[in-house]
Amino acid sequence: MRVLSGIQPSGDYLHIGNYLGALRQFVALQAEHEVLVFIADYHSMNSVRSSEDRRVFTRSVALDYLACGLDPSRVILFRQSDMPEVTELSWLLSTVTPMGLLERAHAYKDKLAQGQSADHGLFAYPVLQAADILLYHSDLVPVGQDQKQHIEMCRDIAQRFNNAYGEDLLVVPEPFIPDEVAVVPGTDGRKMSKSYGNTVAMFASKKEIKKAVMGIVTDSTPVEEPKDTDTSLFQLWSLFANADEKAVLFTRAEAGGLGYGDVKKDLLARIMEYFEPMRARREALAARPDEVEDILADGVRRARAIGGPVLAACRDAAGLGPAK
Ligand code: TRP
Repeated sequence: MRVLSGIQPSGDYLHIGNYLGALRQFVALQAEHEVLVFIADYHSMNSVRSSEDRRVFTRSVALDYLACGLDPSRVILFRQSDMPEVTELSWLLSTVTPMGLLERAHAYKDKLAQGQSADHGLFAYPVLQAADILLYHSDLVPVGQDQKQHIEMCRDIAQRFNNAYGEDLLVVPEPFIPDEVAVVPGTDGRKMSKSYGNTVAMFASKKEIKKAVMGIVTDSTPVEEPKDTDTSLFQLWSLFANADEKAVLFTRAEAGGLGYGDVKKDLLARIMEYFEPMRARREALAARPDEVEDILADGVRRARAIGGPVLAACRDAAGLGPAK
C-alpha cells in the first residue's frame, strides 16, 4: 500500500493532538507501507504571505517530523514545491472539476464565513490537494475527520479524469481514519486544535508548556471532594500513563483528597519526559540545516520517480505534447 499525507507549514509547533492523532500513526505505518509525507508550502500561500516565514515554517515542520521518528530511509519526506509538476496535474484536474463541487467545500465555506478574502487559490485548494494525492497513485490518505470531504472530492475528481481519458490513469484513493486514534482533548475540554487556541505544543519551552498545562480548565470542586475523571485534565493525563497508574489515580480522584494542581504538575512532568528524546533529536537536527536539506532533496528525487511517469501518462492520454 502506498500511503500519503501532507501538512501545511503554518508556523506553530506541532501539538500533542497532532502527535497522538496523526504523526504517531505515520511513524507506525512506515514499518509496513510505502509512506510519502510532504510539506504543503504551495497550500500555505493561501494564508502565509511572508516568504521568510514560509521558509522558516517549512523547515520547522521538517524538523518536527524527523524529530518524531519519521525515518528518511523509509519515508519519502519532501517539500511540495520541489515537485512543481503537481501544479500541472492540478490544472489538468481542474478542467474536469465542477464549480459546484468546489462551492460545497466546507473548508472554503468556513474561511469565507470567517471573513477571509476568497482568492482563487483558496477556492481551488481541493484541486491542488487532489493533485498531491493522485500524482503518486496513493492508495491511502490518513487524515483527520476535517479532511474527509477533501478526500471525497479527490476521489470524485479522479473518477472524472479517468472517465474522460482512461480508466487506469489515476488511482482512486481511500481515506484512512484509524479507529484507535486517540481523541486528544484540549486545555478547554474541546478537541485539541490550533483553531481553538487550546493546544499544548510539544516542542515549546518548558515555561510555555507549563503555562498551557496549568491553564487546563477545571471546576471548583474542593480538594477533599471526589473529582469527575471524565474531564480534559484526567483524559490528557491518561494519555501519558499506563493502565495501572490510571487505576491508582482515578481511585484517588474518586475518593476525594486529590487536588487538581497536583495532577497538573504530574502531567507536566510526564509530558516533558515523554517528548524529551524527540526534543533532543530536534535540537541536534536544527543545528545541521544541510542535513535536513539533503533529506528533502533525496525525498523529492524519490517522489519524482513515482510521480513523473504518472503525470507523463496523464499528459499523453489528454493529447498534450507531441504524439508518442
Ligand atoms: N489540506 C491539508 C490540511 O490542511 C494539507 C494537505 C494538502 C493534504 N495536500 C494534502 C493532506 C494531501 C493530505 C493529502 O491539513
